[in-house]
Amino acid sequence: MYEIEQHKVSEAARRDTHLDADGYERLYRQSIEQPDTFWAEQATRFVDWMQPWSKIHESNMDKGEAAWFIDGKLNVSANCIDRHLAKRADQTAIIWEGDDPSEDRHISYRELHQQVCRLANVLKARGVKKGDRVCLYMPMIPEAAFAMLACTRIGAVHSVVFGGFSPDALRDRIQNAECRVVITADEGVRGGKSIPLKQNVDKALADCPDVHTVVTVKRTGADIPWHEHRDVWCHEACAAVSDVCEPEPMDSEDPLFILYTSGSTGKPKGVLHTTGGYLLSTALTHHYVFDYHEGEVYWCTADVGWVTGHSYIVYGPLCNGATTLMFEGVPTYPNASRCWDIVDKHKVNIFYTAPTAIRALMALGDEPVKSTSRASLRLLGSVGEPINPEAWEWYYHVVGDSRCPVVDTWWQTETGSILIAPLPGATDLKPGSATRPFFGVEPALYDNDGNELHGVADGNLVIKRSWPSQIRTVYGDNQRFIDTYFSTYKGVYFTGDGARRDEDGYYWITGRVDDVLNISGHRIGTAEVESALVLHDAVAEAAVVGCPHDIKGQAIYAYVMPMHNATPSDELLADLKVYVSEQVGAFAKPDFIQWAPGLPKTRSGKIMRRILRKIACDELDTLGDTSTLSDPTVVDELIEHRLNRG
Ligand code: WT7
Repeated sequence: MYEIEQHKVSEAARRDTHLDADGYERLYRQSIEQPDTFWAEQATRFVDWMQPWSKIHESNMDKGEAAWFIDGKLNVSANCIDRHLAKRADQTAIIWEGDDPSEDRHISYRELHQQVCRLANVLKARGVKKGDRVCLYMPMIPEAAFAMLACTRIGAVHSVVFGGFSPDALRDRIQNAECRVVITADEGVRGGKSIPLKQNVDKALADCPDVHTVVTVKRTGADIPWHEHRDVWCHEACAAVSDVCEPEPMDSEDPLFILYTSGSTGKPKGVLHTTGGYLLSTALTHHYVFDYHEGEVYWCTADVGWVTGHSYIVYGPLCNGATTLMFEGVPTYPNASRCWDIVDKHKVNIFYTAPTAIRALMALGDEPVKSTSRASLRLLGSVGEPINPEAWEWYYHVVGDSRCPVVDTWWQTETGSILIAPLPGATDLKPGSATRPFFGVEPALYDNDGNELHGVADGNLVIKRSWPSQIRTVYGDNQRFIDTYFSTYKGVYFTGDGARRDEDGYYWITGRVDDVLNISGHRIGTAEVESALVLHDAVAEAAVVGCPHDIKGQAIYAYVMPMHNATPSDELLADLKVYVSEQVGAFAKPDFIQWAPGLPKTRSGKIMRRILRKIACDELDTLGDTSTLSDPTVVDELIEHRLNRG
């Protein structure tokens, strides 16, 4: 479509950026060679401390132990709100754009302060104390941010569960984190449809007897079931408490939040982040990667239920005193121009979204974009999955009118903040590459035997030194934390991603090398879909792999062995898809299910996913050796009946 070219930032960014190429080199070198000097300066500049740290950092990368700004004390909500009041009390902190284009709200830093203090007092009145876990199951409304910040104000640890998760998935997360309080809304609204959040909470809580309080925000006013004593309306409870709540001094290493994410095996892991290092890294990256300047309007389209929403809708931007836009709806409702209409309406300067959204919009043509102005835009960001060069070029040329740099940001729930990305004005862009490491980040490529690869290479992406917003543990299972991230290769953090490094030292993320799928930027373990499938009475065994999908990046392809007494039928297939949605969430619904008389297994009984992946991806000429299978004929059978993904 477009010629793939290297984009010189000197041309792309015709404005004063925070850094130029030399500035990046100088700061990067300092961050690696004199880390204590670098981090002390940044931590003083970006964060207010109630008590200074005694030591910048300690780590043991064999055990995944890390501590940053040791003995330092701070409060996240005070950093995101109170300290801005002197200068910007009347500035808009959060612009909320409703699903319905006629609805919006502007919340100033002053109002944010009052709302957060009130909600914090409600939590206190309900007995929530420092260290207690609070579950948030919220739609994209400002109250989601109020609730997160209210937790941080009193030192409670939030666990946000994406509103697209099913009641069962919600229950598992509430139980795992031992939450006693849930904050939700009566309903969510997306693309003109309502989502029964409170009803889902009620279902989940049937198996959570320890939850004594459900705070419900009135979003739609729908009729909802009500449990006297347990349930309280957010607006009523907030009206009954004071709007003064002193921020709790927190230790830099006190837990800030838990966020569940999928791995290659077992149930989702509760990734635990702590206070000081996380806040600094999100603020620092928000400042440099998005080149945020005072007064600008910044919009990240993620949901607060995922880490992108945590770090780049709430914490990073608010810590920097930015105006952050929160959108309740979807990019194509009521029409394909919605994103650009929002950009024009609120004069958005920085726009950050996922490749899957870019591809979906690209498929609808240029006209819905070109009919809008987008004159306010000056920077575009991408996150969540590899962005194919075609989508990158469309984003750059059509959305950005060939004048806005595109920052492709690589990171993970576990990394807390962006680790590899270009800095506008400092890094020449290459479509499809996340380019160079951020300050203090030392990536490396290892082969499967754990040898480091140098120069131009393709391998497993690891991070060699500790960074401030690094995952501290898996909640309740430190051994699993060590096994997952710090055991594959000795002394380094293993990302689970593959990457290539080119002749300029640029990184090109090639995708997961483990059994984790990325469906429309949503991370999901094959094991989770498999365990949902085998719970169904008609299923004896199931194996799930990913296959390429034009819009979603990857699609879910499942091989299902029916029970001997079950009759494979189209109806049963449809049932199974619905069943997985109910068990996990709609985004985990298999796109393809193939009936399998058997699964290819080694003689020791291990499913050979490599072969299943090749069949699903139609890569039959690279099937590899099948002679080690206990029954090689299974493969021919599966190939013969493979589904046309069309
Ligand atoms: C996985 C992490 C980071 C916030 C959103 C997802 C993939 C993420 C990129 C990118 C290529 C990317 C990786 C990573 N990923 N960003 N710019 N280019 N791949 O967070 O749910 O924890 O998923 O998303 O595979 O491991 P997550």
